[in-house]
Amino acid sequence: MTMPTGTIVLTGANGGLGTVLASNIIDAKDYHGIYTVRDVSSDTVLSSILRRNAVRPTTAGDQQPVHEMVALDLCKPSSVREAAAAINTKVQSGAMPRIQALILNAGLREAHGQTWTDEGLDTTFTSNYLGHWLLTLLLLRSMDKESGRIVVIGGAVHDPLDPCNSINRAFVEDEWKQILVDASSETVDAIAKGEWSASPANSANDPRGLCGIRRYGAAKLCLVMMIIELQNRLNRDPDISRIAILGVDPGIMPTHITVGDHGWLVKSIITFVMRILAWKNPDGLMRTPQKSASDVLAAALSVDPPIGSTPKSVYLNGSQPKPVSGEAQDDEKRAAVWRASVKYTNLKDGETVLVDWA
Ligand SMILES: NC(=O)c1ccc[n+]([C@@H]2O[C@H](COP(=O)([O-])OP(=O)(O)OC[C@H]3O[C@@H](n4cnc5c(N)ncnc54)[C@H](OP(=O)(O)O)[C@@H]3O)[C@@H](O)[C@H]2O)c1
Repeated sequence: MTMPTGTIVLTGANGGLGTVLASNIIDAKDYHGIYTVRDVSSDTVLSSILRRNAVRPTTAGDQQPVHEMVALDLCKPSSVREAAAAINTKVQSGAMPRIQALILNAGLREAHGQTWTDEGLDTTFTSNYLGHWLLTLLLLRSMDKESGRIVVIGGAVHDPLDPCNSINRAFVEDEWKQILVDASSETVDAIAKGEWSASPANSANDPRGLCGIRRYGAAKLCLVMMIIELQNRLNRDPDISRIAILGVDPGIMPTHITVGDHGWLVKSIITFVMRILAWKNPDGLMRTPQKSASDVLAAALSVDPPIGSTPKSVYLNGSQPKPVSGEAQDDEKRAAVWRASVKYTNLKDGETVLVDWA
């Protein structure tokens, strides 16, 4: 059984998982879809799907858009604010139903080298976490207050102690077994500015891109922390306390984030092997984007077990509940990341309907 109709907002809709999610949302027919991409003018699989499905005949005989792209660069606070304002205006004006599900799917891993935003923040931190944090707070006013859900796409990489990381070997040495050594603002700043596990100037000194994997893990930890921290704050807010935030680890999929930095031949071989492994064991470590998209959509819309009608702070490995890391459960570390998020986004009174945001 699934939730009633409404709008689904999906970030990173041009990506490997995002395109399958968008296509499944369109096939479901019941939802208005907002698909965020960095470049709305690029010719992609998503844009061609949308060209075929952007309009649906209404009973009055005219055409009403039900699936559309919105420009969003999570590394630019102005872009996040513009995208949120465009969506909020549509909901407020009645042009679009309230948001049933906000799926925070965009993600970035810098395989080699490192980049920073105009504000001097690590691109990995802002793409995976900070932009999503801001977008979510701004869009809360447009969420369905009875049954709206926010779905975070997590990953084993948020937890250095997760045995799944034995494949990447990024957290083998003791110094990497904890991401935030304490809850001080300096420690969070080092993550936000990309000083923690910074990539060397010469990428030959980090041939396997382990520095970038660790920064990706740190950003995912902040995102997974949001599942508990934001839920606690929502729970204290009678007007929006029924909104649930939950997370899904989609497993390892042969998408750009994992195989994108290889040449086409190596990429094709890795993709082929990963797909065989995923086919032999659909719930194993390797998954297809199709299988993970169905898990993410279940998290967003299903009321069947183990998700249920109010899946507050639930975290799923595919379709199975799994605890988040010890660090994500640490109240003080979560509070420190929240404070830094307010500081770095310069969130102001009136921008979010969440009462307990500061
Ligand atoms: N693939 C895996 O093995 C794996 C494992 C665990 C978790 N995940 C998570 O699954 C989600 C989907 O990733 P994927 O596998 O589909 O990877 P992908 O194919 O690389 O897609 C990532 C998407 O994120 C978008 N993105 C990156 N930086 C952005 C920014 N600054 N602003 C806006 N959008 C941005 C990209 O947009 P452009 O199209 O504009 O580049 C792209 O569409 C991510 O959250 C990822 O962390 C993936």
